[in-house]
Amino acid sequence: MTVSEARKRYLDFFAKRGHAIIPSAPVVPENDPTTLFTSSGMQPLVPYLLGQPHPAGARLANSQMSFRAEDIEEVGDNRHTTFFEMLGNWSLGDYFKKEQLPWFFEYLTSAEEGLGLDPKKLYVTVFDGDESVGMDLDTEAVEIWKKLFTEKGIPTELVRLGTEASGYEKGMQGGRIFSYGSKKNWWSRSGTPSKMPEGEIGGPDSEVFYDFGTPHDLKWGKECHVNCDCGRFVEVGNSVFMQFIKQADDSFKELPKKNVDFGGGLERLAFATTGNPDIFMIDLFDAARAVLEKHSGKSYAEATLSENGGADTRSFRIILDHMRAASFFIASGIRPSNTEQGYVLRRLIRRSIREADKLGIKDAVLAEVAEGFGAAYADAYPFVREATQVIHEELEKEEAQFRKTLAHGMRELEKMGTTIDAFMLFTTYGFPVELTEEIAKERSIMLDMQVVQAKMEEHQALSRAGAAQRFAGGLADHAEQTVRYHTAHHLLLKALQMVLGKDVHQRGSNITSERLRIDFSYGTKMTPEQKAEVEKIVNEKISEALPVTRTVMNKEEAERFGAEHEFGATYPEQVSVYSVGPKDATADDPKFSEAFSLEFCGGPHVLNTSELGHFKIQKEEASSAGIRRIKAVLE
Ligand code: ALA
Repeated sequence: MTVSEARKRYLDFFAKRGHAIIPSAPVVPENDPTTLFTSSGMQPLVPYLLGQPHPAGARLANSQMSFRAEDIEEVGDNRHTTFFEMLGNWSLGDYFKKEQLPWFFEYLTSAEEGLGLDPKKLYVTVFDGDESVGMDLDTEAVEIWKKLFTEKGIPTELVRLGTEASGYEKGMQGGRIFSYGSKKNWWSRSGTPSKMPEGEIGGPDSEVFYDFGTPHDLKWGKECHVNCDCGRFVEVGNSVFMQFIKQADDSFKELPKKNVDFGGGLERLAFATTGNPDIFMIDLFDAARAVLEKHSGKSYAEATLSENGGADTRSFRIILDHMRAASFFIASGIRPSNTEQGYVLRRLIRRSIREADKLGIKDAVLAEVAEGFGAAYADAYPFVREATQVIHEELEKEEAQFRKTLAHGMRELEKMGTTIDAFMLFTTYGFPVELTEEIAKERSIMLDMQVVQAKMEEHQALSRAGAAQRFAGGLADHAEQTVRYHTAHHLLLKALQMVLGKDVHQRGSNITSERLRIDFSYGTKMTPEQKAEVEKIVNEKISEALPVTRTVMNKEEAERFGAEHEFGATYPEQVSVYSVGPKDATADDPKFSEAFSLEFCGGPHVLNTSELGHFKIQKEEASSAGIRRIKAVLE
């Protein structure tokens, strides 16, 4: 069954049973500073689960765009994705277990109204109880499931697996219904009851699993059981009986109303209907997969079969997953950056580039892969296709920039053999630390992340100390973005000199965390071509990932090197000079004569130009006679 058909059937099914179909909230929450992404269907509904009446009534259903950043590392197996659609239905103090469990079972098994899955392939779990929340085995849920399976002529043995210590090792034991403790069968946004903060809501739940029949891998435990994570049984839906709120004294109080919060991964439901234990074979990924096959010359089907196909398969899957998420993010207004959602987007793109590289794809490919998703979601989420052009541009820009950094960094990393210096790779080549960490893991090389972390922190402390000194005179804002603008300012001045002539000098500047402003000596309005050329040079230097070094030296010596200094400023005997580039400059050997830019400056600056993002001139105008002014931003 196609994903569209599975979604439509679910919404029709619950509409027919009195549910109002509500739209998906944005995947990037609009008014919620506590979380970066919407990661489940209930998230936008918390006030209503707490008791506030919902304008659409007490029975709601939808398909919610969701993103789980914590699953990034899991992607690559047969079933994990970061972005997914969560089908949800809710009872706000209306129906409860005896309606919810039969309805979901009917949706799963009915050939007319639902997915038509074979009930023999379905296994269920219920809450085994937990003293800390004062609850016993959920016998009501057990009885409902017994009845449902019996009606289909399927034996209904209950197996109590409880906790890992007491039960998991016993395995399947011919069971159909399994009970687990809080670790597996309690749901809240923060996990088990003990992890929930005061005021958080949660409750026992009942999950349904589809059996793909794949062999158990001992890495997941001696015996296979429904919730062992080996991949044979895939969870396709979870009915949470959302009826408790955590108290300040760690106890639980009943909510004013007993709610149902059901969530089921749409793609997982669709992939259960294919019987093929690979979520990346559902129709939504077809077009994007074909683009990757064309560019890599590799067949996905063969990769999944061949003996050493593991790595290729993983690469295909990571790109497919990440580019779908990236398409939704960009269409939702997020741009690659170094903070918050923008940083997650940047990470998704960069990981994909590395995986494309591993597949042997040497040219830009991401924008073309992403186009497949605009088309696949044309009906359900037309805003993705409407954003085709901006998705294309953003991916192209980021890919062009990062491919260079990747190539340089990888070359250096290969030279290092088994003693990889993640800090050096980052500071000198702009090579992201988490990527080095990932590569080290792939190659079973030990990387002491504590040492790397300490060096990074020490470095940040240094630049903060520098900032404090420099800004003691009144400039208070020395946030990270401000630091980036400082470095961009140096690149810009040099680019202006290259395009407009050597007589261009700085006559004033002002930097905030939002933009930079520079006043410079030049008599006439810049042409659009000149502005474009300046932007191009700055962005080239950013994508070359040039190291930025600081050297304290004698003033005369600095002047001999031709270091730029501000008009009218007086400097002490010993000055601090910042140089940008060349590629192989280091603090010990800054190679001033080959530097791209050299300026007297107290700093602070970024370590590497790759940290800057994309540079853009917003405005060029007259400041005063013979002085022009540029305002520019980093995106
Ligand atoms: N809110 C529940 C979940 O995300 C349904 O699994």
